[in-house]
Amino acid sequence: MTQDEMKKKVAEAALAYVVEGSMIGVGTGSTANMFIDALATIKDKIQGTVASSEVTAERLRGHGIPVLSLNEALKQVDSLSVYIDGADEFDPKKCLTKGGGGALTREKIVAAASDQFVCIVDSSKQVDCLGAFPLPIEVIPMAENLVMGIAKSVGGEPKVRTGFTTDNGNIIIDVKGLEIHDALALENDLNEVPGVVTNGVFAHQCADVILMGTPDGVQIIE
Ligand code: 5RP
Repeated sequence: MTQDEMKKKVAEAALAYVVEGSMIGVGTGSTANMFIDALATIKDKIQGTVASSEVTAERLRGHGIPVLSLNEALKQVDSLSVYIDGADEFDPKKCLTKGGGGALTREKIVAAASDQFVCIVDSSKQVDCLGAFPLPIEVIPMAENLVMGIAKSVGGEPKVRTGFTTDNGNIIIDVKGLEIHDALALENDLNEVPGVVTNGVFAHQCADVILMGTPDGVQIIE
């Protein structure tokens, strides 16, 4: 089975977690795109969606799936029933790194507004220790060099993502070379730096369930 076939299988398997009649959160990336395509087949069974990026909102609308801002949605419901999104890496505690597509801040906000986070990945994303994939940090442009210095001081090799601006008008600094043994502590420490909007460690918003595509089928990790 190819990587894309594994992604498609987990995207389809995630439909089982969509609560009928509810508002759901939808992530960003190639696996999330496959989920959106699958969601289109049951679009009449949901109340609406909140998108974690402009690109996702456009794809959802393209399928005729209603998209609300999070603020509009939370006037109608207390929370989103589920957030479905991919990840760049996940560890044995179901902590994640995310943000390869640069949508980490909105992804974390939508995940925080959801009752359950179902993460859809292929088996290449499974790691013992997070950090091999460069960790994205969304930064207010004025703080670029401040954050670059802090990232070096924690042992990383930071690089500004060239030609990229987030949906929130900020830059992304990708940090290579980290070995993230205490995901919660690193998430907290980086988020305390003035100018950091958020970083791609999802330890506070770790996954509740991971659906992992393998050559033998979909493995459910709870
Ligand atoms: C986007 C993300 C994505 O979930 C992550 O990059 C995985 O993407 P893909 O499903 O294309 O492998 O965090 O900001």
